[in-house]
Amino acid sequence: MAEKRIAVLASGRGTNLQSVIDGIKNGNINNAVLQLVVSDNERAYALERAMANGIEALWINPRTFKGSEDYNDAILEALRKRRIDLVVLAGYMKILSAAFVRAYRDAIINIHPSLIPSFCGSGYYGERVHREVLEYGVKVTGATVHFVDEGTDTGPIILQQAVEVLPEDTVDSLAKRVLRIEHILLPRAVDLYCRGCLRKEERRVIIEAN
Ligand code: GRF
Repeated sequence: MAEKRIAVLASGRGTNLQSVIDGIKNGNINNAVLQLVVSDNERAYALERAMANGIEALWINPRTFKGSEDYNDAILEALRKRRIDLVVLAGYMKILSAAFVRAYRDAIINIHPSLIPSFCGSGYYGERVHREVLEYGVKVTGATVHFVDEGTDTGPIILQQAVEVLPEDTVDSLAKRVLRIEHILLPRAVDLYCRGCLRKEERRVIIEAN
């Protein structure tokens, strides 16, 4: 099977991007090459991480486009030019257009810091997720990697792992423990995808040994 060409879209610090860079370096992610990192945010530390690792880093400024459709089209064009097979959303804060999702159907992966379908959907990002987990009083939370469809956090689930909520947890301590799990799950999901181990049956993602 040909090596999968990956693009990561990230808006912020990029620790999940780093987990993919490291995964490819240390052989936990196979059959993959990280070709491009795109950000909507000029100051995203994710762009620095890309450059530090010899990966093309592209800031595409949303302000220079008429609207979200045009902006998404510009990213799509950049991905097509580089023959990207897999798009990884790693803390990417913009909504993908329907055309984008259609163009990369079942080839866009997102990481979310809760056990979907809890504490997810529109507006659930950053600290809010963990704050609401604590306020609700659930005993377990976790991380989810899923395919992206037209909804927000509604696509088929690839991997999930639970994280226990401790009585002494703060938003910060919980976010840190969940993040550690994200850094395990995301490279694992990327590896499974790139080795052709993921098959979809309706909403269910079947993991096959390859
Ligand atoms: C992570 O918590 C991820 O689950 C969410 O956004 C955050 C990004 O963190 N989608 P980082 O930029 O990868 O460090």
